[in-house]
Amino acid sequence: MLTFESVTYRHAGGVRPAIDDVSLELGEGEVVGLVGGNGSGKSTLCLIAAGLAPRIVGGTLSGRILIDGEDIAPMPMHELVARVAIGFDDPWTQLSGVTGTVYEEVAFGPANLGMPRDELVSRVDAALSSLAIEQLAARDPAHLSGGQQQLVAIAGLLAMGPRHIVLDEPTAQLDPSGTSLVANAIERLASEGASVLVVEHKTDLIARVAKRLVVLAGGTIVMEGAAAELLADPRLRDLGVREPSAVRLRRRLVEAGLDPVALA
Ligand SMILES: Nc1ncnc2c1ncn2[C@@H]1O[C@H](COP(=O)(O)OP(=O)(O)OP(=O)(O)O)[C@@H](O)[C@H]1O
Ligand SMILES: [Mg+2]
Repeated sequence: MLTFESVTYRHAGGVRPAIDDVSLELGEGEVVGLVGGNGSGKSTLCLIAAGLAPRIVGGTLSGRILIDGEDIAPMPMHELVARVAIGFDDPWTQLSGVTGTVYEEVAFGPANLGMPRDELVSRVDAALSSLAIEQLAARDPAHLSGGQQQLVAIAGLLAMGPRHIVLDEPTAQLDPSGTSLVANAIERLASEGASVLVVEHKTDLIARVAKRLVVLAGGTIVMEGAAAELLADPRLRDLGVREPSAVRLRRRLVEAGLDPVALA
């Protein structure tokens, strides 16, 4: 369980809070989609959830973030990284830069947690196969495409076996088949009990994996509820959120004077 209690956060040098009085709870096995226009605070909320803001990136925070009921503020960094994993849109920033092969890269995080070797090998194999990148195992991560690097970075997160995972535009560089593999991975993590917070401009991914949706504007939660209903709410477009393709199709049919129900 991941809990935000009245969290307000200001970036170092920020004139106004980037996150303003946000309270939110993600239960075990729950996938929550987080959407909002550019600059609405999605990435900032991810950094806070993973304990990187303010600890690593600076700034000031009030309120509390709890993991399974425990305040993360006093938690040692090594414990925090073992309990909540974060993935970013730019895979290059999250590859370690010190490994020569994809296999070592995916093993890097869990090896640093001191995982026994047999378990390490089985976790790395499982992570590679769940993202269908076994064939990249011997390749140099630096020489992969952006999309391949993104899958490798996500495999590295999966191999950590996180109970809490925060993904900031995890499929930004992926084609539809790569995006679908990431959706499968998110669904599997959640079915194993992980709490997942996923930010995506690609709302088709959100529509597929998230039951609940949170909409940010100006650092505040402005809408929250069942993802299927909210994603069809026309107000989302005014907030800079793309419609899922099924919603867009339906709207265009209605605009063209056709009845989507009769056509279905
Ligand atoms: N390092 C920083 N220093 C100061 N202000 C920042 C910093 N990073 C972000 N901000 C500000 O905080 C607010 C929220 O930014 P954030 O990156 O969290 O938005 P976002 O919803 O992720 O946007 P996008 O959709 O473009 O990724 C914006 O007003 C942004 O200008
Ligand atoms: Mg962002």
